[in-house]
Amino acid sequence: MILLKLFVWRTNMCGIIGYVGKRIAERVLIDALKKLEYRGYDSSGISVFNDGTLSTFRKVGKLINLESDLAERALTSRIGIGHTRWATHGKPTELNAHPHSSTKNKITVVHNGIIENYLEIKQQLEKECNFQSETDTEVIAHLLEKCYAVEGDLLKAVACTVKTLKGSYALAVLCQDKSNEIVVAKNSSPLILGLGKGEMFVASDITAILSYTNKSMVLEDGDIGVITKNTVQVYDKELKKVTREIREIKWDAVLAEKDGYKHFMLKEIYEQPQVIEDTLRGRVNLEENDVAFDYVNLNEEDIKNIDRVVILACGTSYHAGLIAKFLMEDLVGIPCEVDIASEFRYRKHLNVLNAETLVIAISQSGETADTIASFEAAKKANVKNLVISNVIDSTLARKSDNVVYTRCGPEIGVASTKAFTAQLCVLYLVAIFLGKKRKSIDNDLVALVLKELLKLSQKMSQALKNTKAIMEDWAKKFHKKHSFLYLGRNINYPIALEGALKLKEISYIHAEGYPAGEMKHGPIALIDENMPVLTIATQSSVYDKIAANVEEARARGGRMLVIASEGNDKIRYQSEFVVYVPKTMEILTPMLNIIPLQFLSYYIAEIRGCDVDQPRNLAKSVTVE
Ligand code: G6P
Repeated sequence: MILLKLFVWRTNMCGIIGYVGKRIAERVLIDALKKLEYRGYDSSGISVFNDGTLSTFRKVGKLINLESDLAERALTSRIGIGHTRWATHGKPTELNAHPHSSTKNKITVVHNGIIENYLEIKQQLEKECNFQSETDTEVIAHLLEKCYAVEGDLLKAVACTVKTLKGSYALAVLCQDKSNEIVVAKNSSPLILGLGKGEMFVASDITAILSYTNKSMVLEDGDIGVITKNTVQVYDKELKKVTREIREIKWDAVLAEKDGYKHFMLKEIYEQPQVIEDTLRGRVNLEENDVAFDYVNLNEEDIKNIDRVVILACGTSYHAGLIAKFLMEDLVGIPCEVDIASEFRYRKHLNVLNAETLVIAISQSGETADTIASFEAAKKANVKNLVISNVIDSTLARKSDNVVYTRCGPEIGVASTKAFTAQLCVLYLVAIFLGKKRKSIDNDLVALVLKELLKLSQKMSQALKNTKAIMEDWAKKFHKKHSFLYLGRNINYPIALEGALKLKEISYIHAEGYPAGEMKHGPIALIDENMPVLTIATQSSVYDKIAANVEEARARGGRMLVIASEGNDKIRYQSEFVVYVPKTMEILTPMLNIIPLQFLSYYIAEIRGCDVDQPRNLAKSVTVE
């Protein structure tokens, strides 16, 4: 099963576009794809009608490669679909690039999403269809051709196809027999229609088409639509006509790229619930009470033999690693050390690492020089290894025997937000995966954690909703302070570090994260009425301890700001400022507790007029030492 899965590359971020109208489609498609490149760009492609034949052109790498190729072809089609790809795993090759075609080239399709049951479908179709790629999307093209042969109508063929699909999709479909219409469908991936005069568009988001029209129709899950140059019609799954509101967008193109948010960082903070859903998709099996990964080849024997886990990372990824230590020790029962990559790489550790050590490198970009160097150094000791990365085929991913990808899409804000929570999400899954194979984790506990993980996306949305305005208020009150203290204990101590890092990075205020119990050994001397002390005091096994630490700081005149669990009214007696997050299992609390801290740093930086997305002296990816 694992081997089969290894050969299927899927996509989930990506940008899709479709055009029908009076202009030369190729030019509109390329122009729109340029605006969608921020969604990913490992390969791209278009399908148009060339001398009456449905023709597809694809290229690996940046869009410019496709653009140069098309420049020589003088295409004149007035209808077409296009795609820019961001693979969540697997190689960006021409065969894996979209659009994908059916065997007889009657149908081409672009897709953004993940088809969870592609393997089943592929196995059923393999004998009669000629599969060219290793993607999940190609099954859609073949299914469409099959349904079209029966129905004789593209709309009906799409309706019949999507009934078979499980997972997320935004689709745009062209058919050789219908050179005047594009059929689209949507479930859990974004898709809008753009309405022009004598021309219509379909796109992943409004950014792509804003220079042509500002009138759009946002499709809902289950919708299927048909566009021609003069008409738009939307149907539900049963092909009953439905009406969707036409909206006029007042954004300019720059704002649109950020989905209307002022900064990428804010947009990325808000993307977290979706990112968590995407990262969990297809990996959790509640029936079998287990998790599965595509690119992890460690077998039961390997895993049983692991006697120690070493985690290597930098920056925010290092903080995710610090949380993973609790998971490895508490859930899996393996000793775990977490090391800053730039420190690890210059230590003499070869004599303490061996084939029984599992080294995990965590890196959003997969390109951080220190993380790569430390990972390579560790590999010399013949260790078992695993990489957690957000970027397909990144340097680190290629150097590792096992990879688990977070599925965030490109993270553009320099201060990492959605990549951090996605890394945590993957680390929970990795811990369960190891614990199950070692039979060291209680099955009831696995069931509890998995169920709660699946609820997290919704709880994160709640936390975003409940904490935003309060954090804006705190930012107004405290943005002039010169220093902040962040306190946490146990699994939320790394969240104190991460909250402090966020504030330092983007607002240039000094902030220190500290284990609350260690305060009495130093930092308590700093506390006076000028020092905001932000304490993470959500419900936990150490709640009484941290509540006592809040008292200690308050007694020294500190301005207490507390993150507490919903329902904890008592804490209001101890603290002037309280923000509540939804309750969850103790080990999952970091996923929710970080949200108000991300907001706080964002709004403080905003008020101080700092460059939120590109803070001074910092880079998104530190590819040099
Ligand atoms: C830089 C970024 C941080 C990031 C760190 C590690 O410092 O500004 O946001 O956490 O690199 O990056 P990685 O891509 O390895 O996770």
